[in-house]
Amino acid sequence: MLTDTLPKLYDEAKDFMPILGTDYIEIYCSNAKQAAHYYKSAFGFSSLAYAGLETGNQEFESYVVVQDKIRLVLTSPLRSGTEVGRHIDKHGDGVKVTALWVDDATYAYNAAMERGATSYMEPLTEEDDHGKVVRSGIYTYGEVVHIFVERKAYNGVFLPGYQEWNTRYNPESVGLKYVDHMVGNVNLGRMNHWVKFYEEVLGFAQILSFDDKDISTEYTALMSKVMSNGNGRIKFPINEPAPGLKKSQVDEYLDFYEGEGVQHIAVATDDIIKTVTDLRNRGVEFLTIPNTYYEELTDRVGQIDEDIEPLRDLGILVDRDDEGYLLQIFTRTVQARPTMFFEIIQRKGAQSFGKGNFKALFVALEKEQELRGTL
Ligand code: FE2
Repeated sequence: MLTDTLPKLYDEAKDFMPILGTDYIEIYCSNAKQAAHYYKSAFGFSSLAYAGLETGNQEFESYVVVQDKIRLVLTSPLRSGTEVGRHIDKHGDGVKVTALWVDDATYAYNAAMERGATSYMEPLTEEDDHGKVVRSGIYTYGEVVHIFVERKAYNGVFLPGYQEWNTRYNPESVGLKYVDHMVGNVNLGRMNHWVKFYEEVLGFAQILSFDDKDISTEYTALMSKVMSNGNGRIKFPINEPAPGLKKSQVDEYLDFYEGEGVQHIAVATDDIIKTVTDLRNRGVEFLTIPNTYYEELTDRVGQIDEDIEPLRDLGILVDRDDEGYLLQIFTRTVQARPTMFFEIIQRKGAQSFGKGNFKALFVALEKEQELRGTL
């Protein structure tokens, strides 16, 4: 149900936690060097920065790749017995950090801590020849953390401790522009706890809510609430499983991730047909949508700018709300465990999340689960 749209009368002066945008997303993975190559060759990212033995880091190696405003940090341990290694052993590859770009990381940390956050990292100033960066961090659901990044006095390539990563291989962008939203899966009965956390600790507001009547098929169900910060640049939907006849995708995630974590990262494009065509040609795999979906499409969403044919060929979904429409598609999971995946989204006015597609999407996900024997 649409309870509200993004705050139209947003008053920055009253926002105790102003966030400028997503700074970076860090994925702990077992082979950062190869993962970086995958995100470059398949998803169209470019090399940006590197940290590891050559930069004096004895514990882990990180590769940073970039596409427009999206920065991914891929991190692997250099030896056994590390925190990064323990995280990978338990969860497989997955998101550890969602970094939030702020003007004052010390203030942001103190504001969150006063409101009940759990500390991950006290404000820390790091410097190099290019200036200084202040970072601080708090825990959210599972083992995921939010790191506040203050970089107004820094003009280096990424962060102090990283060097520029120059390579001859930088494939063309596929047109991914920024992180639209990032979804968390939490345990049964924990959704409202985390909704309250984002409201109280970070000053977010709930903009949408879906219950098991909105998001269910014959077999599986889930519930979801969408949290947004004041200026709408950060949107975190939070899912919890709902009882169904069979095991839902959220249950499967929680089983294989061995806990709560990031389910998908939605990235925006201005031309979804071109972006998805490029991604598919580079080997990215997407969920397949039954043909019947497209037979009913025009009746459901009305006139749209795009031809139906390429949407059907690529499996792109369309939904409409009061403000316009959106096009979206979901990749298959992108690591060994059936956990995290990506969404590609193009918004044409609509600020919602594709409620009209949930059913088709869930049927597609159940088909995948069936193949894995986890439904
Ligand atoms: Fe999404």
